[in-house]
Amino acid sequence: MVEHLYIHIPFCLKICPYCSFYKETANAKKAKPFVDALLREARERSWQLRPKTIFFGGGTPSALSVNQLAFLLQGLRETLDCSEVGEWSFEMNPATVTKEKAKILREYGVNRISIGVQSWNPRELKVLGRVHTVEQAEKSIAVLREAGFDNINVDLIYSVPGQTKESWKESLSKSLGFRPEHISAYCLTYEEDTEFFRRMLGGEWTPDEVLDADLFVMTREALAAAGYRGYEISNFSLAGRECVHNLAYWEGKDFIGLGPGAFSTVGERRWRNAENTQSYIEKSQDGEALTDFEEAVGGKIRKNERVAFGLRMDIGVERGWVNTETAERLLAAGLIVGKGERYSLSERGLLVADSIAEEVMEF
Ligand SMILES: C[S@@+](CC[C@H](N)C(=O)[O-])C[C@H]1O[C@@H](n2cnc3c(N)ncnc32)[C@H](O)[C@@H]1O
Ligand code: SF4
Repeated sequence: MVEHLYIHIPFCLKICPYCSFYKETANAKKAKPFVDALLREARERSWQLRPKTIFFGGGTPSALSVNQLAFLLQGLRETLDCSEVGEWSFEMNPATVTKEKAKILREYGVNRISIGVQSWNPRELKVLGRVHTVEQAEKSIAVLREAGFDNINVDLIYSVPGQTKESWKESLSKSLGFRPEHISAYCLTYEEDTEFFRRMLGGEWTPDEVLDADLFVMTREALAAAGYRGYEISNFSLAGRECVHNLAYWEGKDFIGLGPGAFSTVGERRWRNAENTQSYIEKSQDGEALTDFEEAVGGKIRKNERVAFGLRMDIGVERGWVNTETAERLLAAGLIVGKGERYSLSERGLLVADSIAEEVMEF
């Protein structure tokens, strides 16, 4: 049985110019047939699913209305055996948080919220093209706490164009003031096919790797001092509040993804649903296959992925998983360190984690 379930909700109130996740502007007419299609897909997969973790991501799952959410969650509970779910995460954009939604989510068993704050600086929110304000973000955390959520993640982005070390420090310390159980702090990536990428290519902004590294080190130090363990390169949590779903993913466990653009990996098979909400709905209605990509992920690929992701965690990965030649080279370059029976990235390695991952995947 597959124990980890991801559900992709592709709707957003407004599209952020840096984002490359599969999403589209929320459309009230599409939401109902979309939820129906999602429930059909859940039904088809129910035979192989007994989730211990569920993660609703997007897009913006909270862009659905209260009624749509209730219908979807009720339908899922009727379709899947949810008796073993320990962690049920749900991504929310601060502009979409209401008391009613928080209540419904709690009632149906969602017990972890990930909220896309990104920055506490109004100018940076504007640069990021965010739909929400600082006040909405403050209020939404208060609403979630009042509703009883005791496991909240705050998503932040650093290296935003025009951001200074001071403004990032302020965003970090303001986040800490809410004492969230978890903080994800991502360095801004200029993803291809985004407006930010085009503006960067046009010379409006120049990525500054030295500043990126400074902000990264600053983040780790500030969060460690406040009691947050950097258990993965971009993820920090209070004791026992690591995201179990993401840990499973990084540890190479099988997972199933439902919804347009969602990936699944089970055994040696990986597939992806087509990234097109309209055709996802139509194919589902017509009983056609939803996937547009499938590949065999033999032992070697999954092993290398496990190493690439494992090295990014503070607990690292068992030495036996790492190709001896690669390990020797990375050790000699001071990019990984041995801790007991495991290897993980060194402080220097953390700064070039992406190129190390690429190198690991080549073997
Ligand atoms: C799928 S979004 C979910 C949150 C919700 N849609 C929102 O934005 O409020 C997941 C997170 O990915 C991060 N993210 C998205 N695009 C990014 C980029 N280009 N660089 C760095 N982080 C990014 C943001 O922190 C975002 O909150
Ligand atoms: S960052 Fe979040 S809200 Fe913005 S477009 Fe991406 S998924 Fe939507």
